[in-house]
Amino acid sequence: MLEPWRTGIVNAADSTIRLRGYDITELMQKATFADTVFLLHRERLPNKHERRLLDAILTSVVDHGSGAPSCATARLAASGNRESLAAAIAAGVLAIGNDHGGAGAACMSLIAEGVALSKEKSVSLAEAANQLADHAKASKRRLPGMGHRVHSVDPRTAVLFAMAREEGIAGDGVLFMEALDAAVREKIKPLPINIDGALAAILYDLGFPPEAGKLIFIVGRVAGLTAEVAEEYAREKPMRIRVPVEYDGVPPRSMD
Ligand SMILES: CC(C)(COP(=O)(O)OP(=O)(O)OC[C@H]1O[C@@H](n2cnc3c(N)ncnc32)[C@H](O)[C@@H]1OP(=O)(O)O)[C@@H](O)C(=O)NCCC(=O)NCCS
Repeated sequence: MLEPWRTGIVNAADSTIRLRGYDITELMQKATFADTVFLLHRERLPNKHERRLLDAILTSVVDHGSGAPSCATARLAASGNRESLAAAIAAGVLAIGNDHGGAGAACMSLIAEGVALSKEKSVSLAEAANQLADHAKASKRRLPGMGHRVHSVDPRTAVLFAMAREEGIAGDGVLFMEALDAAVREKIKPLPINIDGALAAILYDLGFPPEAGKLIFIVGRVAGLTAEVAEEYAREKPMRIRVPVEYDGVPPRSMD
């Protein structure tokens, strides 16, 4: 006899499905999708301020153009494999990592490090951010949540930070990232706080653990991937994508 799996997420019985104790039919009628995502991860429903921020974060990351690594990978898989929608979506998710869409997790740990440093050494968040920026520069380490391939200013960051202030959510997470932005500008070069850094600051202030910096991005991005893959199937012919490649290896040679 197998030992039963233990879980605190869902209890599904003959005629009821309870998610963190709430009947799913009640959630369907009274909660939003963002409420349910919050409930899944935090074991309680959000208040209206928390809901607004999580909803905005999920919207902010849905898609960033077909050329963004996760979207491009999903499209490439859909182009070569018409038999599996799931494979194309999974391929897109597999492209999410520390450099694309997943820097939020390391950024949340960096924020925690900065806040702890400021408390331990009784220095301001600005001073803690200065020290971490110095350290990154000296060790040639890239700071997660800073910099962008496309944007010199990420238009999503200011909106999320303003909303976090409006809703009374902004705390050490937002303050630290703003301090880091100033420190990096002075010590390294002007780099935008990208969406991974912005969502990391807010998820930190909302009390989420560091891995949420990746997981919440994935929740939002999957919505965009479904549209990318559906469009590839609907508009394009199979095997549409053949990436141009330039060979620069050894010249032709013989085994004789
Ligand atoms: C997003 C990213 C890959 C863009 O890289 P890029 O296009 O090469 O960046 P830029 O051309 O604007 O700047 C390159 C220079 O700025 C510095 N720089 C860029 N991002 C930096 C960061 N996050 N921290 C510290 N320095 C950084 C680098 O030292 C680099 O100099 P080098 O080429 O001499 O090493 C890069 O900023 C990065 O790695 N960021 C951290 C990961 C992250 O947040 N990813 C999520 C992106 S949405």
